[in-house]
Amino acid sequence: MNEQLASLMDTYRDHFSIGAAISTRTMDVYSDLILKQFDSLTAENEMKFAELQPEPSHYDFSKADTIMGFARENGKKVRGHTLVWHNQTTNWVFADAEGELVTREELLERMQSHIETVVGRYRGQIYAWDVVNEAIEDHSETFLRQSKWLQIIGPDFIDKAFEYAHLADPDALLFYNDYNETNPTKRKKIIRLVRELQDRGVPIHGIGLQAHWNIYGPSLAEIEEALQDYASLGLPLHITELDLSVFRFEDRCTDVKEPSLAMLEAQTEAYDGIFQLFRAYRAHIDNVTFWGVADDYTWLDDFPVRGRKNWPFLFDEQHKPKESFFRVVDF
Ligand code: GLA
Repeated sequence: MNEQLASLMDTYRDHFSIGAAISTRTMDVYSDLILKQFDSLTAENEMKFAELQPEPSHYDFSKADTIMGFARENGKKVRGHTLVWHNQTTNWVFADAEGELVTREELLERMQSHIETVVGRYRGQIYAWDVVNEAIEDHSETFLRQSKWLQIIGPDFIDKAFEYAHLADPDALLFYNDYNETNPTKRKKIIRLVRELQDRGVPIHGIGLQAHWNIYGPSLAEIEEALQDYASLGLPLHITELDLSVFRFEDRCTDVKEPSLAMLEAQTEAYDGIFQLFRAYRAHIDNVTFWGVADDYTWLDDFPVRGRKNWPFLFDEQHKPKESFFRVVDF
C-alpha cells in the first residue's frame, strides 16, 4: 500500500476514534487497511447472543476471542456488540423444556447470566458495549418494538440489561444503539427512552447512532437536527455502523453491476458533508465506526435485495481509497 496515504485514525485523532466492523475472515483480508486506518474494532456478528451462547449454558467464544486477540496484538480498542437484541438470539432463550415461554424471572436470570459471562470475560478489554440494540418501534405510534424480551419481561428489560452490564464491568461505557435514528418520529422515541432511563438512574453512558444511510438521505439538515437533539441529552454519541448505500432503500433494481460515476460523486459529496458535520459535533461524538472496511464485502451486498452488490465505503473493491476518502481526510 502507498506509504504516503493519509490515515483516517491519525487524521481524526483529535476528534474521535475511527472504527470498523470486522469478522474473523475480514480481519485477515483487510489487515493492512485495519492496521493503518482504524483504531477501534467491532465484531460484525461474533459477539451476538446466538453466536456466543447457541445452546443453553454452552458458550462458544472461539471467534470472539480471535477478534479480541487481533485487537490486543495490534493495539486496537474494541466496541462490544451486542447484548440484548430481538434478532440473532436463539429461540431457546425464551422457551422452557416444554417449548412454552419462560417466566419473567427465568428470562431475567438467563439475561443476567449471559451478560455476566460475556461482559465479565472481556472486562477491562472492551471499552464500550451496545447493551440494548433496536428496542424502539419504527413506524407506528407504538413506543417499544414487539419482541420476546418485551413480551416476557416487560419494558424494564432495558433497565435490567444496563444494570447487569454495569455490574459485570463497572468501567465499560454502556450504549443504547438503534437505526433510522435521524427519522424525526423515531428520534423522539429514542430520546424519550434515553431520558427515561437517565431519570430512573439506569447506568447508560452513551447513544449509538447506527447510521446505515444512503447517498440520497438522510439530508445533512436532518442529520444535524438529529445530532443536536441527541447531544442535548448530555451523553457521548457513537456513530456505530456507518455505511452509505448507493441505492435508495426502496430501490429494488438488480441490474447495476458497478457503481456509476454519478453514484460515486453523490457518495463523495455525502461523505464530505457528513464528516464536516461530525467534525462540527466533535464535542459530542467520541467514535465513528464504519460497518465494514472496503467495497468488496458489505452486508448490503444482499440486503435488502438478494444478490445485489453495493459499494458503501471509503475504500473500493481493490482496497484503494476512493475520492470520498480523500475528501474525508482533507480539512
Ligand atoms: C443491525 C445490527 C448489526 C448488523 C446490521 C446488519 O444494524 O445492529 O449488528 O446486524 O443490522 O449487518
